[in-house]
Amino acid sequence: SQNNELVPHKGFLLIKGTHDPDDVDQISNLEIRDSDVFVVTYPKSGTIWMQQILLLLEAKGDVTAINKFSNYSNADLVPWIEVIGTREAFITAPSPRFRVTHLLHQFMPLALRQKKGKVIYIARNPKDVLVSYFYFHKLATMLETPKDFDDFFEKFMRGDVFGGRWFDHIKTWYSHKDDMNILFITYEEMIQNLQSAVERISLFLGKELTDEQLASVVEHSTFKNMRKIPQANYEQVSDDLLNHHVGTFMRKGTIGDWKNHFTVAQNERFDEVFQKEMKDFPLSFIWD
Ligand code: PPS
Repeated sequence: SQNNELVPHKGFLLIKGTHDPDDVDQISNLEIRDSDVFVVTYPKSGTIWMQQILLLLEAKGDVTAINKFSNYSNADLVPWIEVIGTREAFITAPSPRFRVTHLLHQFMPLALRQKKGKVIYIARNPKDVLVSYFYFHKLATMLETPKDFDDFFEKFMRGDVFGGRWFDHIKTWYSHKDDMNILFITYEEMIQNLQSAVERISLFLGKELTDEQLASVVEHSTFKNMRKIPQANYEQVSDDLLNHHVGTFMRKGTIGDWKNHFTVAQNERFDEVFQKEMKDFPLSFIWD
């Protein structure tokens, strides 16, 4: 048994060596403060991007305040709540506590359903998620390297990946949206108009930034600029975790790369499943 093995736990797959089932079960009992913010994503939907935006909003756009922590990556400053060892730190951390998670709704702190704290759910069109996740499986040592794209396509459709079936993830979170203080935002709207996305996020969090400060948040969270900021692009993450020689975490940052990867048959199948799964959900996506 290796450390990239997926282990089923209550209908969800955890990554051996990265997650611990007992630890994950204790997340639901965490006490929540009104200032807590959880960013929820299916993998490859813009997590690192939102980590960057939250840090910059908190610093009122002052990028030097983030550079101070140059030994820390975005994931150190805005950690995953489900990763081994992070829960203890969460309990005693000073406010505001920003955390990210790929978990399903059922594992999250129950207090969120009493409308304590805030949740930001980022959704990305699942064809691009699939492609981005394919490359990430080659990059990340904690995930099994795919045989080829076709093989990974099948795995993704079956939900045989960390995060499970994309459809289940978004549907369960979306169905509970009225229980929580939640902002739904898409990766594509962030690409198309980062300024207005940042304003929405800022408003949701009750932040008051000047136009100049907001402009600085936007400037330092573009793909082009994040690629140059070591903390914000996982360049500093050790070779034990990322195979830096096979690619970069900040890979392409575009809408529609699936067109360069899906066959016509795969695309038709995907559309069929999408229509069936999403027919009762009023969520629309930008595909290209
Ligand atoms: S992870 O591993 O789940 O935390 O990955 P995640 O951060 O959610 O998603 C990584 C993808 O998001 C892209 N990205 C961005 N796109 C546009 N603008 C900005 N600023 C940005 N930051 C990250 C990143 O490039 C990955 O997508 P792909 O399609 O692979 O490029």
